[in-house]
Amino acid sequence: MNKDLSISADEMVWQNRIFDSLSYPSVIISPDKTLVGANKKFYEAFNLSFNEIFGKKCYHTFLYKDTPCNSDQCTISKVIKDKKSHSFTLKHHYRWEERVFSPILDDNGDVAYVIGSIRDITRTKSLEGQLHGVKEFISRVIHSSASAIIAADRQGNINLMNSVAKELFGDYNGGEGKIKHTEQLYPPGKAKEIMGMLRNEKIGGAGKLLIPRTTIVNAHGKNIEVEMSAAIIYDEKGNESATMAIYNDLKDKIKIENELKMTQKQLSQSEKMASLGQLAAGVAHEINNPLTGILFYASLLLERKDIDESMVEDLGYILEDANRCKEIVKSLLVYSRSQGTKKNIVQLNDIVQQSLALIRDQKKFRNIKIKKALSDEMMLINADTSKLNQVLINLVINAADAMNGSGTITLTTYKEKAIGKVFLEIKDKGEGIPHENLSKIFDPFFTTKDVGKSTGLGLSIVYGLIEEHEAKISVKKTGSQGTTFIIEFPMYVASKDGLSLCKPYC
Ligand SMILES: Nc1ncnc2c1ncn2[C@@H]1O[C@H](COP(=O)(O)OP(=O)(O)O)[C@@H](O)[C@H]1O
Ligand SMILES: [Mg+2]
Repeated sequence: MNKDLSISADEMVWQNRIFDSLSYPSVIISPDKTLVGANKKFYEAFNLSFNEIFGKKCYHTFLYKDTPCNSDQCTISKVIKDKKSHSFTLKHHYRWEERVFSPILDDNGDVAYVIGSIRDITRTKSLEGQLHGVKEFISRVIHSSASAIIAADRQGNINLMNSVAKELFGDYNGGEGKIKHTEQLYPPGKAKEIMGMLRNEKIGGAGKLLIPRTTIVNAHGKNIEVEMSAAIIYDEKGNESATMAIYNDLKDKIKIENELKMTQKQLSQSEKMASLGQLAAGVAHEINNPLTGILFYASLLLERKDIDESMVEDLGYILEDANRCKEIVKSLLVYSRSQGTKKNIVQLNDIVQQSLALIRDQKKFRNIKIKKALSDEMMLINADTSKLNQVLINLVINAADAMNGSGTITLTTYKEKAIGKVFLEIKDKGEGIPHENLSKIFDPFFTTKDVGKSTGLGLSIVYGLIEEHEAKISVKKTGSQGTTFIIEFPMYVASKDGLSLCKPYC
C-alpha cells in the first residue's frame, strides 16, 4: 500500500480483518482507477480470485467494459476531486446495486485510495416500484372518481382536488386555481362548523361525517346543494395528518324530486276531482228532477190570470233562482264529464278565434281589450272544439274578473318542436292569486268572489276538460302584475300517412 499510509504488520493484519468483516462487498481502488484489493465479501459475491481483480481497471470489474468512463461522469474522479463520498445506482441483469465510493486520505489530506462498497438494493427497488404502483393506482382512482374529492392539510390548505371537484367548484382558471383553503369551499363560518362536527364522536363517529344535504360555494360565489362525506386522515401514530371530503352535486336529484312532487300533486288533484266528480254527478241528477218540477209549476202559475201583481214578481224571483240552479246543475254535469267527447284535429288558433267571437259582445268585456299574439305556424291539436271553447271562455272570464272589468288580456300561442308541444297562454293584468290559494283554485266550489255571483266551478271544469285532451294546465306566473295561465297540448303533424302525434323533433 501507499507509503503515506505505512503501518506495522500487526496493524495491517487488523485492518484486513476489519475490511473482511464489512457486510458489503468492498474494493480498494488507487487514484489511477486500478483495483488494489478487495474484501472477503467481494470475492464471495462476485466469485472472483485475488489474481482476477488485482491490477485490473475499475471499469473492467465494475462496469463490464474495456474503455475508461468519460472523466466528467466518473464517480471515482469526483471522489478524488471533492474528497467526499459519491454514489450511483446501477442495474445489472435483474440486480439493482448501489455503489458508494469514499476517499481514504493520507497524512497530507490527499486522496490516497478510494474505497468502493456495493450494496444489493434489488429488494428496496422492488418495494419502491410497488409503492409507486400503489400511489399511481390510488391517484387514478381519485382522479377517475365520479364524485368530487378534495384533501387538505391540518391547516386547511388544499393539496388535492380531482377533476370533478375542479368542475363542481368552477376552479379551472387556466390551471392556477383560486381555491386554496377549505374555508373558501363553504359559506362563512361553515368550514369551522364542519371541522367541529367531524371531531365530534356523536356525529357519524370520531373523524367521520356524512351530511346528506349542505351548501357549498363555488369559485364564482354561487351556492350549490351537495351531499358530502368527510374524514380525518390519521398517520400511523394516530395523529391527525390531513382531512378529505367527497361531494356529490344534488342538482339532478333535486330536479327529479321536484318533478316527482309535481306529479304527486297532479295525481292527488286528479283523484280529488274524480271522486268529487262522481259525487257531483249524483247530486246533479237528484236535483235535476225536482228542479224541473219547480220550473214547470212556477211557469204554469205565472201564466194564470187570477194572480195579483206582487205574486207575479215573487214567481219571477222563483223562476230566476231556479234557472240559476239549473245552470249550476248543468255545470256540475259538465264537470262530472257525463257528456261525450268529439275530438278532431284542429288548428289551435281557430279555436282561440272562435271562443273570442263567442264572448265579444258580452257586457263584461265592454272595457276589456283582448290582444292576440298568435303564432302563424301550423299548430294542430286533437280537440273537442266546444269543450275547448268552454275552457277559453272560463279563463277569459276569470281574467276579466281579476281586472275588475277593465284592462288588457293577452292570448299567446306558440309551439316547441323539440318537445312536441303546443302552448296557449292567457295573461291578465289583474290582482294576482295569493300563494296560499294556488293549491285550491282548481278545486270545485273554491271561489273568492261574492256568494251568489260565482259558483267556484269554472277552473275545476277547465281542469277536467284539459285532462280529457291529454293536456296540462298550470299557473305560469302570478303576482301583483297579473296572472298567466299556461296550457300545454300534445302536438299533431300532417304527414303523408295522415295526421299523427308528434314525437319530439318531428
Ligand atoms: N286570472 C285570475 N286572476 C286571479 N285569480 C283568479 C284567476 N282565475 C281564477 N282565480 C281565482 O280562482 C278562483 C276559482 O276560479 P273559478 O274556479 O273559475 O271560480 P269562480 O270564477 O267562480 O270564482 C277565483 O275565485 C279566483 O280567486
Ligand atoms: Mg270562474
